[in-house]
Amino acid sequence: MVLDLIEKRFSVRNYKDKKVEDEKIKSILEAGRLAPSWMNSQPWHFIVVDKKEKKEMLSKMCMGQKHVSEASHLILMLANTSGFSRLHFGKILKERGKSQSEIDMIFENQILNPGLLGDNTILIRLMEQTTYALSYMTIEAQNQGLGCCVVGAMSNELTGGEPQYIQKIKEELNLPPQYFITAILTVGYKNDNVMNEPKVKIRKSFDEVVSLNNFGEKFNN
Ligand SMILES: Cc1cc2nc3c(=O)[nH]c(=O)nc-3n(C[C@H](O)[C@H](O)[C@H](O)COP(=O)(O)O)c2cc1C
Repeated sequence: MVLDLIEKRFSVRNYKDKKVEDEKIKSILEAGRLAPSWMNSQPWHFIVVDKKEKKEMLSKMCMGQKHVSEASHLILMLANTSGFSRLHFGKILKERGKSQSEIDMIFENQILNPGLLGDNTILIRLMEQTTYALSYMTIEAQNQGLGCCVVGAMSNELTGGEPQYIQKIKEELNLPPQYFITAILTVGYKNDNVMNEPKVKIRKSFDEVVSLNNFGEKFNN
């Protein structure tokens, strides 16, 4: 059943001019909220955007991509650069029943605490976490009979772009300084009049991406 949803999902870039019901958006958000993360750190926040002016502003940030302004809703995936700090991460570890000495041990270990390896590692690990939430959302959107598309081509802290512009968008969205947008999910009803679905799903073959025991040894002999 889940594999069926995964097989049928494709990126939708043409949407009907029809608002998606709140309940459907909520279930997509729930799929993201319940996704797994590094030691359950959940260093994310999701902003739902349904206002036309805001969608247009965000479309500009995404190199003018049309589906960003035309989708019924946008879900902005935010990463929290303080997500691995004692304030946030430490609180979650406590909720998970860890003792103070266990928490101290975790914070002193660079494998367990991404924060010890510096800002770049934090960014990498944040991208890793938010990707799980985002992929769960795409499957739930498919499950709800909706189309969606992950949008990563944008000006942000990872790709660069005009710093003043990035700052302006943060101000418009009232983002706390430690948050940045890692990706946007466009969500809406597929426009059936427009060629949305690709004729073939272009993917590497099973044998090209799967090995058994040793790299290059076929799983299916
Ligand atoms: C991290 C990421 C960033 C992406 N950025 C964009 C984007 O900026 N614009 C867009 O139209 N599609 C974007 N895509 C969608 C991919 O182009 C698409 O998933 C890929 O071509 C495979 O096609 P499919 O999703 O239809 O199976 C992105 C996908 C991912 C996972």
